[in-house]
Amino acid sequence: MLTLRDLLLLSAAAFASAEAGDKVPRQGPTGTAAWAAAQSKAAAAVARLSQQDKINMVTGIGWERGPCVGNTSPVNSIRYPQLCLQDGPLGIRFATGATTFTPAIQAASTWDIELIRQRAIWHGQEAKAAGVHVILGPAPGALGKIPAAGRNWEGFGVDPYLAGIASAVTIEGLQSSGVQATVKHFLLNEQEYNRETMSSNADDRTVHELYLWPFADAVHSNVASVMCSYNKVNGSWACENDKLLNGLLKTELGFPGYVVSDWNAHHTTNGAANAGMDMTMPGTDFNGGKVLWGPQLNTAVNNGQVPRSRLDDMAKRILASWYLVGQDAGYPQTNLRANVQGNHKENTRAVARDGTVLLRNDGILPLKNPRRIALVGSATVVNPRGMNACVDRGCNEGALGMGWGSGTAEYPYFVSPHDALRTRAQQDGATVVLHSSDNTNNVQNVVSGADVAIVVITADSGEGYITVQGHAGDRNHLDPWHNGNQLVQAVAQANKNVIVVVHSTGPVILETILNTPGVRAVVWGGLPGNENGNAMVDILYGLVSPSGKLPYTIGKSPSDYGTAVIRGDDNFREGLFIDYRHFDNARIEPRFEFGFGLSYTNFTFSDLTITSNARSGPATGPTIPGGRADLWEDVATITAVVKNTGGVQGAEVPQLYITLPSSAPSTPPKQLRGFAKLKLAPGASGTAIFNLRRKDLSYWDTARQNWVVPSGEFGVSVGASSRDIRLTGKFTV
Ligand SMILES: *[C@@H]1O[C@H](CO)[C@@H](O)[C@H](O)[C@H]1NC(C)=O
Ligand SMILES: *[C@@H]1O[C@H](CO)[C@@H](O)[C@H](O)[C@H]1NC(C)=O
Repeated sequence: MLTLRDLLLLSAAAFASAEAGDKVPRQGPTGTAAWAAAQSKAAAAVARLSQQDKINMVTGIGWERGPCVGNTSPVNSIRYPQLCLQDGPLGIRFATGATTFTPAIQAASTWDIELIRQRAIWHGQEAKAAGVHVILGPAPGALGKIPAAGRNWEGFGVDPYLAGIASAVTIEGLQSSGVQATVKHFLLNEQEYNRETMSSNADDRTVHELYLWPFADAVHSNVASVMCSYNKVNGSWACENDKLLNGLLKTELGFPGYVVSDWNAHHTTNGAANAGMDMTMPGTDFNGGKVLWGPQLNTAVNNGQVPRSRLDDMAKRILASWYLVGQDAGYPQTNLRANVQGNHKENTRAVARDGTVLLRNDGILPLKNPRRIALVGSATVVNPRGMNACVDRGCNEGALGMGWGSGTAEYPYFVSPHDALRTRAQQDGATVVLHSSDNTNNVQNVVSGADVAIVVITADSGEGYITVQGHAGDRNHLDPWHNGNQLVQAVAQANKNVIVVVHSTGPVILETILNTPGVRAVVWGGLPGNENGNAMVDILYGLVSPSGKLPYTIGKSPSDYGTAVIRGDDNFREGLFIDYRHFDNARIEPRFEFGFGLSYTNFTFSDLTITSNARSGPATGPTIPGGRADLWEDVATITAVVKNTGGVQGAEVPQLYITLPSSAPSTPPKQLRGFAKLKLAPGASGTAIFNLRRKDLSYWDTARQNWVVPSGEFGVSVGASSRDIRLTGKFTV
């Protein structure tokens, strides 16, 4: 007989399954219709502006000359404010009363669209309350093809489909709260080393199927602006590359908003204007000297070197985005000191926890009432110099919450592993013994005799303008920092119940640790933000079952990835074969594959259904924001039933991988094209519904310059990771 509790759990499961499809519910009208009203208001306003007004609107007022990292001049005649643009992807940079949301890489690691959406809605509410008009995020480029690249943690992982869905949901969340989102960095900014001089030369198909992909989703979700990147593309600066901005972005993807330069990524007055850049930031170089627009643009327009219509178009795009999100009415004054956090730490903690990936567990977890717990490592306590002691988090001292650089913000508080574990142990009447250093001397005295020894290790990375312990943004290697391997080995000599917790911006080679006898569990805490310790304790004690899945592959060796930081120009020789696409294609066994993550319960998969009315051939629809309209139409639906057969509540992430027919030119063996997060009580089942858009079944045909659905047999794989495939099927187009 069903109890009331069972019924509640069942209805919760049913709700989960109804919500589980990968289709992104929209906040309002999308595409052309959403922009139409904003564009006509913008056109009317532009007609009333002087040329100087327009110049002011497109030119930043200069580095550190206003309240925000980017500011333009107000235009009083149309009540247009001094626009405030502020980093970044995880919070409001330099604000003192704002939430630092858990980094995007951890949000991706949850594979939970509802958590990602809530994160964005709340981030947007905070930005609006602080009077920030434009948030510089999300950041799906870097996509992360190079595992050591410094800024991968600012994005949503190395798969374009996952990054695209997460970016779309983030943009919709931010903009539904009234703030403009800026998707960045456009395009092919995959490493920090030489980022301001190197050229990224990727072929057309690779650009479309990997790097442009999440930007197409962003444009389809009506993103207000796009930030062009520092690097060159095919030898021409990204911020003055006509093919990139006027071609791919504004024509092929039909982007109606404005292109803003990365800070100081602007190189020439006329080149950028005519290639499609619409706003220069911060308006001067970082010395406050060199100005490329402002009076120079005025002269260029007067000389006819930049058409007057181009300046009008810049202003119209900037105003349309402002109207699109409703900033023309009642927008708060800029105030980065306001306390705007509300209850948002609930999301911060949930993302930190649900993005945690259980990599190994021989049964030691969840913990069973340990009496004496040893906690080891410098990353177990808050940075002794202060949680915000290092500018832009540019050090790796104490517990790790985020990487470093412009994509950071000031922590409002920080819960370290020791803080959270001590609280929990006090409740249980247990004892925590702490060794809060990475020094192997004396650590064995601390851990011997403890019921369990928890070692917390880290690896960090960030933006290239700060060098931390010799790492100039990109990591120099994929090993743990601070001799983490040796620390684990030393602990394991004195205690045979070792749990290793890893906090990292990206993949770490774990072979030494996994081969150390006594390491009974490895918990990939990822990049947990300031709820670091609470998330760890929630997982270790089984308050929730781990449900995160890796948003990248953990290889056995750095060379297994086939990509590394490049010293000259990057010709993207690996093409489509990055991360799991490469491991699969080259038949390299990863240590932990993309999409991997264990649980405290078990799930079975069954009842695969496939319905398709897809037709082969090129896309034919008119261009709407994001590309041809028919690319966005659902053409097939795949479902699978997942059952929780274990003993505790848990969540599984069924993943759909598609194999294109052999009629398509050389393509990765399988590519992610759907996922769902099903929260299931013991014994409960849920249905994952994967809606496939036309684009999900297409490849980019370089000769036709179009997306094409190939004809033949499509392979369907549904599983618990990219390699743990539980159900297979096929359909013919
Ligand atoms: C860069 O050059 C390659 C090789 O010619 C070409 O396939 C690609 O489309 C170019 N990309 C851009 C953005 O111009
Ligand atoms: C999950 O299944 C495996 C065998 O397939 C079994 O060894 C393990 O005990 C199960 N775990 C739970 C929590 O049911």
